[in-house]
Amino acid sequence: MGYKIAIDGPAGAGKSTVAKSLAEKLKFVYIDSGAMYRAFTLKIIKKKINVEDKNALINVLMTTNISIADDRIYLDNVDVTDEIRARDVDKLVPIISSIPEIREIMVNIQKNIAKHKDIIMDGRDIGTVVFPDANLKIFLTASIEERAKRRTKEIRDKGVCANYEDILLDMKKRDEMDSNRPVSPLQIANDAIVIDTTNKTVEEIVNEIIYLMGDH
Ligand code: CDP
Ligand code: CDP
Repeated sequence: MGYKIAIDGPAGAGKSTVAKSLAEKLKFVYIDSGAMYRAFTLKIIKKKINVEDKNALINVLMTTNISIADDRIYLDNVDVTDEIRARDVDKLVPIISSIPEIREIMVNIQKNIAKHKDIIMDGRDIGTVVFPDANLKIFLTASIEERAKRRTKEIRDKGVCANYEDILLDMKKRDEMDSNRPVSPLQIANDAIVIDTTNKTVEEIVNEIIYLMGDH
């Protein structure tokens, strides 16, 4: 079956940093489900598909190859790891990921990737929809100000200009869309453990999760 760890939470809560570090320590496979939605969104932008045209979106997704290897994400065999973090993708991804038919296909792909593996997957609906029977469900959170501060620093560290107020506003909008969509909204699974990461280091959070795993 494999051991499944689901990590959900809003943007900038620390999901991917924590998941990556945890996966390295435990020798588990790490899958960033958000990167999959982002890669598909990038393709829709590039192909200039009308997001209202649901059938066109489904057709594109059915003929798209998204793969993850060594922390890089490939869209039809092209490395798009950096490109999927662009602001136009940030803006469109919650709209595309609110479409139930698109989610259904993505969830199937995610379940298939995870089959028989020890896996850590992060996203918005991992504990609620993708792995409802996960061995451990974690919900990471932090204040919106802290999350926007982290994202601003992350972008500036890459040498790119970033405005805190713009990031804060974009993040609020995306959180709101992700939390209020009718299908698979961002919500805390009943059996998830909530960790507020506001004043915690990545290492502290990783150790806390390993402790929660017990002897797995
Ligand atoms: O890294 P960040 O938290 O900014 O976002 P992400 O995990 O890369 O996810 C980008 C977007 O994809 C989210 O804002 C959601 O709209 C969507 N998403 C989703 O709907 N379901 C998931 N399991 C993961 C991401
Ligand atoms: O995946 P998600 O959007 O939830 O967040 P992330 O991309 O893992 O984290 C956003 C930024 O916050 C990264 O630059 C992390 O290094 C940083 N971070 C932090 O400073 N302290 C933490 N406890 C967790 C993450």
